[in-house]
Amino acid sequence: MAGPIQALVAVDGGVDTQAIQSMLPDSSGIEVVGIITGLDESWRTLQETAPDLLIVACEGYSDRALYFIDAAVKQQSGRPVVVLTTGSPNGFVRRVFESGADDILTLPEPPERIAFALEKAVARRRGAAVASGIALAPMICILGPKGGTGKTLVATNLAVALATEGERTVLVDLDLQFGDVGLALGMRPDKTIYDLAHSAGTMDEDKLAAYLVKHSSGLSVLLAPTRPDQASAVTVDFLRDVFTTLRSMSDYVIVDTPPGFTPEVISAIDASSNVCIVGMLDSLSLKNTKLGLETLELMGYDQSRVALVLNRSDTRVGITREDVEAVVGRAPEVLVPSDRQIPISVNDGVPIVIGDERSEPARAFRQLADLYTETAEEPEEKPVAAPTPAVRKRRFAWRA
Ligand SMILES: Nc1ncnc2c1ncn2[C@@H]1O[C@H](COP(=O)(O)OP(=O)(O)O)[C@@H](O)[C@H]1O
Ligand SMILES: [Mg+2]
Repeated sequence: MAGPIQALVAVDGGVDTQAIQSMLPDSSGIEVVGIITGLDESWRTLQETAPDLLIVACEGYSDRALYFIDAAVKQQSGRPVVVLTTGSPNGFVRRVFESGADDILTLPEPPERIAFALEKAVARRRGAAVASGIALAPMICILGPKGGTGKTLVATNLAVALATEGERTVLVDLDLQFGDVGLALGMRPDKTIYDLAHSAGTMDEDKLAAYLVKHSSGLSVLLAPTRPDQASAVTVDFLRDVFTTLRSMSDYVIVDTPPGFTPEVISAIDASSNVCIVGMLDSLSLKNTKLGLETLELMGYDQSRVALVLNRSDTRVGITREDVEAVVGRAPEVLVPSDRQIPISVNDGVPIVIGDERSEPARAFRQLADLYTETAEEPEEKPVAAPTPAVRKRRFAWRA
């Protein structure tokens, strides 16, 4: 960390400024550049200085302090805010976090505890800044125009394939109302994204890790809520934090989605590096797949980062490769045939990619995983700012 953390302290009316001053840590890591009495005055000072950290001292529940924090966070969202309260924090803690603060401490606390909290808040924010600029893992969003096309099948098998290759992989079930990733992987929903959304405090890697459920393959899973009515607890703002944090703590993030472009799905697409569209080989599904591709294009999504998986790709339905290309406008990267073992593997909760490794669908899912790992290993294809793999188009020959 370069130089000491420069902190500005804003003291709410009714709080003894000198008492606060005496409690502030006297460590070389933190330099208090100002202690301002009154939040109006503090606001003015905040406009004129650029502290690394804002400390807000107040006496228990204070609407004034909440407004102040909210305005300060809106003004500069990257700057951490830590609240010190001298009175009872009952009912206040949750509001403080909602207003965007990073932490709250009830005084008195020993100076070293306060110093630790301040340093942690700054380190977390600096970590997030690094994550958004440099070291983000690929995040692959699995999309499909309607239910039953095989999104969950592809998401679970791709994620398990990557995990068994030793990649630190996280699978997020974003089908918030009817998610069935847990069933497909034979996992119990001990902890879900709903519990994470309801937990107090800001998002960081340690906290997120506590809500991931481990699969025997090594895959980590953020499961969907257990009841449809819990879905509304998961907001788009919250998801943005979840995705960034997951991408900074793993090698691959795979997101299974519900059908259609819901706000959650759009936030996942926005946060992703790659999209994988799952279509089926019938004319209605192909038309919808084309619509999905066009929607992504309208959203400005780089088409070279979109892969197409054709599920149930049997030739028996009478649609040829030429038909697919004619309707969709491109050839699929991977073909997954219909297989009787697939519904059985779903019922057993054992993905076919580990349950029947030699089967044709298992090979197709490993081929899909290779598409991401192989491109990720080729440095010349990595963009400088965010090393995410560009999916090579038409790499695989049509085999059906
Ligand atoms: N290639 C396939 N062969 C046989 N059955 C399949 C195949 N793909 C999907 N299925 C069946 O269809 C069901 C629905 O697939 P799923 O992945 O849950 O769809 P989605 O997530 O798009 O709604 C699966 O549980 C499975 O039984
Ligand atoms: Mg599904």
